[in-house]
Amino acid sequence: MGFLKNLFGRKTKEEETMSEKLNIGIILGSTRQGRVSPQVGEWVKEIADKRGDANYEIVDIADFKLPFLGEADAPGIVAWNEKLASLDGFVFIVQEYNHSITGALKNALDLAREAWNNKAAGIVSYGSTGGARAAEHLRGIMGELMIADVRTHPTLSLFTDFENGTDFKPQDLHLDNVNGMLDQVVVWSGALKSIR
Ligand SMILES: Cc1cc2nc3c(=O)[nH]c(=O)nc-3n(C[C@H](O)[C@H](O)[C@H](O)COP(=O)(O)O)c2cc1C
Repeated sequence: MGFLKNLFGRKTKEEETMSEKLNIGIILGSTRQGRVSPQVGEWVKEIADKRGDANYEIVDIADFKLPFLGEADAPGIVAWNEKLASLDGFVFIVQEYNHSITGALKNALDLAREAWNNKAAGIVSYGSTGGARAAEHLRGIMGELMIADVRTHPTLSLFTDFENGTDFKPQDLHLDNVNGMLDQVVVWSGALKSIR
């Protein structure tokens, strides 16, 4: 298709798709007052922004004022779906509530379908055991939503990465894992864009 570029002096659609930066949403999974997820999300975004390989943005479920599925038609549901549709991949900031993800995150997952499909996602989780049980539940849900979840998964401990369980002070050792997770999310998000 190179001849088209020469002919019209501009990039073909194919070339534009290849060169555009991907949009990756960092989704905060908790909405309660006093939550620590914004601290964790900002930390991931700071690491991600230094890479310069994609457009990273924090997506806060709380901003959308989502009703529970089936309770009401709220404008937030439309806005939520539009936001997800604008993203090529996700990083879920996952906290463990009763050995699973939050009700808020599950509801937000249930309130969209196509906007999740054929995209990639990574998980950064926290809890007393690194949020591992919640993260594994989320992987099962992602399978149903056709979200390709990457393997590398930074797990943060409420005991060693937070002071008093509230002030986020991550250990340096997590940095490589966050970058490894983002490496995979960016590559898979780019690959999956080609089939949407
Ligand atoms: C309803 C509830 C249930 C929780 N259950 C667990 C649990 O099963 N395992 C765990 O490791 N931590 C559990 N925790 C602790 C949370 O992981 C911790 O409070 C964390 O900071 C919550 O994330 P957030 O501050 O972003 O809301 C629970 C907290 C709440 C509020």
